[in-house]
Amino acid sequence: MIYLDNGATSFPKPKGMMTAMEECITKYCGNPGRSGHFMSMKTGEEVYHARRSLAKLFNVENGERLVFTKNTTEALNIGLHGFLKRGDHVITTSMEHNSVLRPLKAMEKKGIEHSIVKADREGIVSAHDIEKVIKPNTRLIVVTAASNVTGSKMPLKEISDIAKKHKIKFMVDGAQGAGTMNLDVKALGIDMLAVPGHKGLLGPLGTGALYVAPGVNLTPVLEGGTGTESKSRVQPLDFPDGFESGTVNAPAIIGLGYCAEFIEKIGTEVIGKYEEDLICWLDERLANMDFIRLYGPRPHEKTGISLINIEGVEAEEVTSILNNRYGIAVRGGYHCAGLAHKTIGTWDTGGVRISVGPYNTKKDMEILVNALWEIGREKIT
Ligand code: ALA
Repeated sequence: MIYLDNGATSFPKPKGMMTAMEECITKYCGNPGRSGHFMSMKTGEEVYHARRSLAKLFNVENGERLVFTKNTTEALNIGLHGFLKRGDHVITTSMEHNSVLRPLKAMEKKGIEHSIVKADREGIVSAHDIEKVIKPNTRLIVVTAASNVTGSKMPLKEISDIAKKHKIKFMVDGAQGAGTMNLDVKALGIDMLAVPGHKGLLGPLGTGALYVAPGVNLTPVLEGGTGTESKSRVQPLDFPDGFESGTVNAPAIIGLGYCAEFIEKIGTEVIGKYEEDLICWLDERLANMDFIRLYGPRPHEKTGISLINIEGVEAEEVTSILNNRYGIAVRGGYHCAGLAHKTIGTWDTGGVRISVGPYNTKKDMEILVNALWEIGREKIT
């Protein structure tokens, strides 16, 4: 199969990740931070090491401010529910995934209001438009690093500067940027960063993380055993334990730690550029096919994603033909981001999303171009 659904999860995974996970499971996996024996302590050390490796990738000084989660959605929920209080106002954009929009919708019932700033037809939001909706009670701006529908990159630094100017906290959903975009929390002034382990970071499914800057206080959304202060009935608020109640997925976290080092060695920007170049090559060919509709910004203003439709053919049908006849995996439909589709003009049709990873090649793009050409010609004639 030619796998072009890296926006959903990356495939394949680095071999060293499997080795690290297997070694953990078969040789030493105890419950980290819980017991005083060798296996528990060794697992704890390896989880600590993984936390440090991931922190380094985002220029996080104190790794303890990085909380492991099961995915980006969980990280976003911990940040949003943990930070916002009754009477607060939040600003977000029309390009967000439901993992931001649904918690904010639900929080209306708790007296937390939000404004959604509309992006342009290419899916890029203007920092100036964000500034226009700031109110005296605005406490947070939450923005995706790059759209999961079109790959459109957001002007993070400009938005961050506006947030700082108005003393508002700035949160970034790094679901589509982590591992391929420079998400340096210091340089970009990010107060909370939610990332998946299993997409651009190439780690196992069921992993993610939330960075919380010093001085940003959260109320935990989950309470329970932390391996600390066991005699107290009150949830500790220390980072990271207070926000990681229950047993963590140590083998997967250790696998993710391997991947963070693997990416660090190659370079996030090198990987990002490689993927963008593949998409640039693809978009140039697709632009020459008159039955193809291409959405989103130009290459290099977006990550390794191309969103298309073949005129007169349902997105789901194209996806299914690519799978069944050509062995090509892409994702069709609405990508859990209905509002993003409304913004770019695909509310009625959805789209076919092609998302590349570091293991894809130009040959994969050539095979895809030929397949789309054949499907389009067939439907026209
Ligand atoms: N959020 C993931 C995607 O965009 C699953 O496909």
